[in-house]
Amino acid sequence: RLDVTETFHNIMFPGHMHTKDSLNYAINFQFQDTDTVIVTYPKSGTTWMQEIITLVLGKGDPTIAQTQPNWARAPWLEQYYCVDVLKASTGPRIITTHLPYHLLAEALQDSKAKVIYVARNLKDVLVSYYHFHKMANFLPDPGTFSDFLNDFLKGAVHYGSWFDHVNGWTSHTKDIHNFLYITYEEMCKKVSRFLQCNLTEDELMLAQKHCSFNSMKENTMVNYTLIPQEIMDHSKGKFMRKGKVGDWKNTFTEEQSRLVDDVYSSQMTDSSLLFKWE
Ligand code: PPS
Repeated sequence: RLDVTETFHNIMFPGHMHTKDSLNYAINFQFQDTDTVIVTYPKSGTTWMQEIITLVLGKGDPTIAQTQPNWARAPWLEQYYCVDVLKASTGPRIITTHLPYHLLAEALQDSKAKVIYVARNLKDVLVSYYHFHKMANFLPDPGTFSDFLNDFLKGAVHYGSWFDHVNGWTSHTKDIHNFLYITYEEMCKKVSRFLQCNLTEDELMLAQKHCSFNSMKENTMVNYTLIPQEIMDHSKGKFMRKGKVGDWKNTFTEEQSRLVDDVYSSQMTDSSLLFKWE
């Protein structure tokens, strides 16, 4: 396992799920054309997208979503248990990753795997990630929101800089054969068309019902309540916290908001995609 001070390509990863071997396995991964790869910076809508893809590929049938934990049906490529899950899997694979583009660029070269990049308003990510640090015992104590904000803007957090992540993936959309960029804010509707699953109206309604925040909040297969208390302390917060767009306004001061806007405009100049978030 990686210890707290160890990094991989200068990025910190939670040591309980990552090893040097698992990270090397990820960056040298052999993607298959039938793979669907969910790529996110943490707290950007990963679990939601895992649920949507599960429901869409299953044509609205909630059985898998309600009987298999999300990490078993859409494993994280860089986490050590992925190898075994993928070995045992049959049928089209759903793979999840928080890795930045430059670490997967080679593995994805010439691949026809479907890559879905989900981005979320940076300020909502910040608030969500801050609360997650408080309940996730495998992440460091975030200190005050203001401390965490400063670490986050410097990229001194687990999985690295949000700016590098979003810039990296969105400026290489043309280098990836099958690429969908979507935001947390606009999710759900576009996905089934991209996967070329022609769901009937009824199937689509079923899929949407099971992907709603309230339905996922109650689903033990995705709300992380199966994870032992010593790893995620549910008395300190909920994984399915609020699921809101723009909730950052309840946490940020005006000064913090301006600071993030300034860093955003200075760091995102090369991004081929512009974000207009409320
Ligand atoms: S992780 O740890 O990276 O896998 O987290 P991730 O799943 O990317 O992000 C968690 C946030 O997504 C919210 N969420 C949802 N919002 C709306 N609708 C649905 N169905 C949904 N499912 C998860 C979850 O509540 C976290 O956001 P916050 O703002 O903390 O509530």
